[in-house]
Amino acid sequence: MRTPEETFPTHFTFGVATSAYQVEGGIENDWAEWERAGKLKEPHARCGRAVDHWHRYEEDYALAKAVGATAFRISLEWARIEPEQGRFDEAALEAYRERLLKMKAHGLRPVVTLHHFTHPSWFHRETPWHLPQSVPTFRRYARRCAALLEGLDALVISFNEPMVLLLGGYLQGAIPPGIADGALTMRALENMVRAHAAARQELLERLGRVELGISQNMLAFAPDRWWHPLDRALVRLASPAYNHAFHEALATGHLRVNMPGVASTRVAIPEARDSVEFIGVNYYSRAHLRFVPRPPFIEFKYRDTRGRGLTDIGWEDWPEGFLQTLRDVKRYGRPVWITENGIDDRTGSRRPHYLHSHLAQVLAARAEGVDVQGYLYWSLLDNFEWLEGWGPRFGLYHVDFDTLERRATPACDYFRAVATQRRLVAPGTL
Ligand code: FCB
Repeated sequence: MRTPEETFPTHFTFGVATSAYQVEGGIENDWAEWERAGKLKEPHARCGRAVDHWHRYEEDYALAKAVGATAFRISLEWARIEPEQGRFDEAALEAYRERLLKMKAHGLRPVVTLHHFTHPSWFHRETPWHLPQSVPTFRRYARRCAALLEGLDALVISFNEPMVLLLGGYLQGAIPPGIADGALTMRALENMVRAHAAARQELLERLGRVELGISQNMLAFAPDRWWHPLDRALVRLASPAYNHAFHEALATGHLRVNMPGVASTRVAIPEARDSVEFIGVNYYSRAHLRFVPRPPFIEFKYRDTRGRGLTDIGWEDWPEGFLQTLRDVKRYGRPVWITENGIDDRTGSRRPHYLHSHLAQVLAARAEGVDVQGYLYWSLLDNFEWLEGWGPRFGLYHVDFDTLERRATPACDYFRAVATQRRLVAPGTL
């Protein structure tokens, strides 16, 4: 007889995750501009047709079904829907509606992200996140999105990884909009919290009820030098600021960030209080923090502490941090969804083991009473990986980037076995 912790209950959802820009192809937005400005790691790389999911979506739904998925995470591309400020493209809205209906008809529950890093280019010129007008702008877009979701019982994510967008786009200036300013970062953060609350009102008005959350990138943190008081102090500051500030604001209506010398804020946003039904967690790795005696005083590294080998993108394979992260979100008293977890594994040989070791942590968290309700693997397909371009391969399915042919990796069998048997099987025993 198996103990309950060894199995996933029947209501637990296994699914896959994608985002519009990374898979659809043919999108003109702030990232396309960024690429043309030569700002990717490989300056000539372009997302372009991506992996043509826009035309191959039915084939891709079938691939998801074939691995036992019953949920499919997509994002809506704002630049398709509102290509010019205030002008909504009815054909694009219709196309998304059709895709969502087909997804549902395939037996896949839609998980729909309204905002996954990208913006129409006009947004940064007209109403960037650091200006208060960004909130009504997002609200108007969210109203159109709400209409697409009618009758679908979708899980809705307002923002994907807002802290990654803000850190990369507003503090470091490495991704669009390419600003590097701590004070503007905090204003943008505040407006994104307000925009979430505004979007929620639109969703509620249209749908009556909604299951809404954000997808938060959550890192395990460790001091680079375990004995160094300043490295340890950084860890104590980083986790509340990076992992929890956004979640906290949506639970309590109080936004607090305290990263001395980097960025700090403290503001009440009452409309954001109790504004999520679930906690979305994207978990990949652990970061080692080191104090450096010059701004921004913090250095961030991945290290191979257990000799497992870094993943191909260079991240530490640290399943232990997943359990720690899930324990940490128990405080919000909400159901938890793993909205992303996955590995860049260019040969496909490590992924079954990665899945096994990470899903074991999900079961451990459930056994400790963390109400994890679903797991969405990042990603169904190899795709365009932002600044890294076409190097990384996170897909359950390998994609030949020339022919766009999708081919199963060994993790497909593994994922299907776990998703259908609802228990952890050891990789290699299938
Ligand atoms: C996450 C992003 C997702 C993908 C994975 C690898 O930070 O949300 O779009 O790039 O990392």
